[in-house]
Amino acid sequence: MTHVLSIEGAGKVFPQGRGGSVTALAQTSLDVRENEFLSIVGPSGCGKSTLLRLMAGLERPSAGSINFRGQAVTRPSGRIGLVFQDYSLLPWRSILHNIELGLEFQNLAARQRRQRAVEHLDLVGLAQFKDAYPHQLSGGMRQRAAIARALAVEPDVLLMDEPFGALDAHTRLLMQRELLALWEKRRKTVVFVTHSIDEAVYLSDRVVVMEKDPGRVIEVLDVPLPRPRTRKDPDFGRLTESILELLKY
Ligand SMILES: Nc1ncnc2c1ncn2[C@@H]1O[C@H](COP(=O)(O)OP(=O)(O)O)[C@@H](O)[C@H]1O
Ligand SMILES: [Mg+2]
Repeated sequence: MTHVLSIEGAGKVFPQGRGGSVTALAQTSLDVRENEFLSIVGPSGCGKSTLLRLMAGLERPSAGSINFRGQAVTRPSGRIGLVFQDYSLLPWRSILHNIELGLEFQNLAARQRRQRAVEHLDLVGLAQFKDAYPHQLSGGMRQRAAIARALAVEPDVLLMDEPFGALDAHTRLLMQRELLALWEKRRKTVVFVTHSIDEAVYLSDRVVVMEKDPGRVIEVLDVPLPRPRTRKDPDFGRLTESILELLKY
């Protein structure tokens, strides 16, 4: 089994108040496998974002280590792409320019950069909106643009932190399907944070279940359901139930 990311006994403690501290993530070990779709679920405050930020190199662990293909992750890199809930598109730049911005740190000629941006806008079905500004797009379209921007860098791993959290229920279901279609077209390792158990079971090969106080991993489950999945599958319901039980809902 090849591992893209290896988290070995990594934890994160933040200072808080007068000399106090908060354990955002207790020591955790986890391997992310090549080309898998891995979800992380758990209640608010259980350290999901902290774990993802450690994987992204946005945060350094207080203990343990994070390795990407055998090398310590010490800072963000183009090999690891990120998508957040709030799109993080620059409002004063067109969609095309937002995508190109992500490519400015790569050694690409202007023409190649443009070509790569257009190709990825096309991939997410936004080609005809390339000259629009973020405020002119719906939430779902903005999130597709954010995904295109992350993919345009051609990362090995895509880390997504509640990317559909701000979308209405209908758009969210559509985006889940679109993301799976993309993942099937451009096989990639995806680590997907969500607090929706349903979303995690629908999308993932494996689900990491976390609990809070302190933030920690309590279980890693395989999702052996065939794809394409349907929520009508009794096994879908059973798996969802067992995760709910783990979380004591
Ligand atoms: N930069 C920070 N400074 C202090 N505490 C933090 C910081 N980031 C996260 N925390 C705390 O760590 C815990 C886990 O946070 P987070 O990883 O954001 O959880 P989740 O994404 O699961 O909601 C929370 O109690 C949060 O308040
Ligand atoms: Mg979070």
